[in-house]
This record gives sequence, C-alpha cells and structure tokens, in this order.
Amino acid sequence: MTTVPNVVVQNSDIEDSTFFNALRQQEYPQLDANHQVYLDYTGGNQYSSTQIKTHFARLQGAVFGNPHSLNPASAVSTKMVEDARKKILEFFNADNYYCIFTSNATGALKIVGECYPFEENGRFVLLADNHNSVNGIREYCHSKGGSFAYSPIHFEDLELDAGVLQKLLEDDTPYRHKLFAFPAQSNVSGVRHHLKWIQTAQALGWDVLLDAAAFVPTTQLNLQEVTPDFVSVSFYKIFGYPTGIGCLLVRKDKFHLLHKRWFAGGTVTAVSIFSPHHFLAGNHERFEDGTVNYLDIPAVTTGLEFIEGIGMDRIHLRMENLMHYLIPRLTALQHSNGRELLHIFGPRNRAACGGTIVLNIFDIHGNQYPFEHIEQDASKMGISIRSGCFCNPGIDETNNCLTAEELSRYYSSRDNGDFRDMMQYLGKMRGAIRISVGIPTTQSDLDTCIRFISNYIDKEVMA
Ligand SMILES: Cc1ncc(COP(=O)(O)O)c(C=O)c1O
Repeated sequence: MTTVPNVVVQNSDIEDSTFFNALRQQEYPQLDANHQVYLDYTGGNQYSSTQIKTHFARLQGAVFGNPHSLNPASAVSTKMVEDARKKILEFFNADNYYCIFTSNATGALKIVGECYPFEENGRFVLLADNHNSVNGIREYCHSKGGSFAYSPIHFEDLELDAGVLQKLLEDDTPYRHKLFAFPAQSNVSGVRHHLKWIQTAQALGWDVLLDAAAFVPTTQLNLQEVTPDFVSVSFYKIFGYPTGIGCLLVRKDKFHLLHKRWFAGGTVTAVSIFSPHHFLAGNHERFEDGTVNYLDIPAVTTGLEFIEGIGMDRIHLRMENLMHYLIPRLTALQHSNGRELLHIFGPRNRAACGGTIVLNIFDIHGNQYPFEHIEQDASKMGISIRSGCFCNPGIDETNNCLTAEELSRYYSSRDNGDFRDMMQYLGKMRGAIRISVGIPTTQSDLDTCIRFISNYIDKEVMA
C-alpha cells in the first residue's frame, strides 16, 4: 500500500493541493524531470514510482513460469494471476461476476461482439456517443443477420436523448436477443451517462454492455449497486502501468449467453483429435485464449492497491476541483473584439461530467483553428493534449452538424478516404482538442495550459 506523503508544499487555489502536489513530486517525478505538462489522462494515465518499484521487486524476488502447471515457478504465476483477479472483483464489488483478462477494453468488447448471439434475430442498440471499439460490434451484429440502431445525443449538450432511447428500448419487436451498449462516461466530452439506464434496459429485456473504460479512472464503479451484464475496462487508464491488460466482467448468470466459436490453449477442460470433441472451461478461462500475460497481471494488484491507498472518492473530488479551476478560466478567454476564443462542447452544468473536456479554438475573425495546428503548437511547449476525433465519430459528427445524407454520399463516392479527404469533400470541419486531468495534475499544469491557449487571443489563422 502506498503511504500518504507527509510533505508540505505551497498552498494553491485548488482544494486538497497540498496532498496531491506532494504526491506528484514523490510518485510522478517523470513529469517534471522531463518538463512535461501531461493532459491526456483519458488517453492513458501515468504510473507512480511505488507501482513500478513494487512490481519490479516482485519480478526480481520470484521465479515465474507459465501458469497452470504443478511446478513451483508455475504455481507462483498462477497464484499472482488469481490474486489479481480476486483484487479486481473486490475493487468493483463484483462477487457475482467472472473477470476475464483481456489485452485492453477493446479486447473485452471484441469478446462480446464475437460471442453475443446476434444471429437469432438479434438487435443491437447503442448510443451515438461510443468509442469505435463499441461501434464496431455493429459489424458482428449485422454480419450475423441482426439489426442495429443508434440512439442520438443532443447537439446542445452532448447528453443522450432520453425520449428516443426509451422508445428504442421499448420496441416490442420479438427480438430473440437484444444488447444495449453505452459508455458510463464519454471518452470525448466527459459526460457521464446515467447508470439508471442499465436497470431500465434490463427491465425491458435487454442485456447491457457498459463500457466503463473512461469512467473507472476517477469514479468508483460498484457492481452491487448497478448490475450491467458485461463491463469493459483497460487498467492503464486507471493507473498507467501495465499497458496491455484489461478485463471483461461478465455477470455469472449471463455467462451462458456468450457463445465461443472455437477453442484454444487454456480454454478447454478436454479436447480430442481422434473424435472431434471438446469441452470448454466453465468459467473465465473459456475466454482467455493461450497464455495470459502472467508477468504483468500481478502489477494490476499493485495498481489497484495504489488507487485504494489514495481513495477513489478523493481522486474523484480532486478531478472535480481541477475542472472547477480550469473551465471558468478557459471560458473567460475572449478576443479583444469580444468574440469567443474557444468553445467547450457539452453541458454548461458539468456536475455530471468527468475530468475531460473537448473544445475548439477560434481566431479573432471566428475561424476555427485546425486541430492538428493546436496539437503541434502545444507539443512545442511540452504540453501533451490530444486532438482529432478520439475514435468516437458520433460526438464529432454531432458537434460538426454532419448529416446522415452527406456522410452516406461521401462514403458511397469512394472506396477509401480519411478525415482530411472528408473535410474537403463536405466543406465542413472535423475534429477537436481534448484536455483531460488525472491524479498527478497540478494547478501549475492547468495554468500552463490556460497560458498556452491565451496565446491565440487576437491572432488569425494563417492560410
Ligand atoms: C470509453 C472508451 N472505451 C473504449 C476504449 C478503448 O480502450 P483501449 O484502447 O484500451 O482498448 C477507450 C479508450 O480510449 C475509451 O475511452
């Protein structure tokens, strides 16, 4: 467990900064040592020194072998992998779930896509605000003969349209299996979509896939309070190290729904080649193809302990305090002619949002800066922000008022293309800039970011 650092640093405007500034110095020295202002926590979190030291001491202190054998090296790995699994289930209060290790949230979502029984008159409903790793499930659904529909989000505030969603969920067509997918928190706007939709959808006969990848880094997910059928998570988004490990949490009573179409090493209890039969494992092992990442999985235990050492409620409050500091200062920025310097997409009242904002910057005449331009300028100052569409085309198409007709015209006019080509064809902008905060973020990081954006005051976009 990490200890709370006992270092007094200068007071700042942001509540609880003494603790978090000290934590930054003690646990995240890589940021200041490299003169980095890192503001892409929704992309990936930073790892603490404690995590790295603890994990490397673990590796140096034992002999690890391929798990699931009786030899001592194997037994060490098996125990540590199972300890991590247990820790994850405890962390999410998920006693009645299986925890399937995957390489990331995408790997978790792919299992659902591949194995959910869409073929028997299946239906897939998803929010327009989804990561492409959820959007892509529609291709499994479609290719198996199922149908899908998007529930829109409002242009004004990027919140879901409750009326349309309710209607889609109340659809009384006799679908055999129906899956509803939504992100607990948007990876672009930071909007947290209400978790009550899990229960609403389930009461109407839907299975629910909750993509929790952007939610769980700053908010506790308690799977006794809400009980989605499937949950996807990437651990590097919560605590930075290790990358390459995620999980799919599957409610035990819904495990039978996922139809695995092949078998592989580690997923079976018996296989014959003389007689073409096999028995699949009856738990998480069924979906863990081949050898799990047994050297990195134990670092998940350390990461979760580190987070527990700080406390998720404290992390959540810190994120809110950082956003309370940042947003009014950004929105106050104007050109001298009174035009807005930037526009933050999403709700004005951000009480139900996480630590992520998406925005565009405009010049003195109201012309939007291309997002690549902003990211390049920021990079020159050692500021890591993200730009583009963030693998979430629904938000970008909504923000840029693209219509289904014009998008369909574009896609049917060529065999391949990209956003640049699309912007030229449609004569519309695409993309935005995303800023996100995390455990090591300080007021100084935010001040640097605000100063950077202020540099565009009274400037013109160069042709
Ligand atoms: C909400 C959401 N879902 C899914 C993903 C995909 O995660 P990964 O790339 O780790 O598989 C991300 C990544 O940014 C995300 O934010």
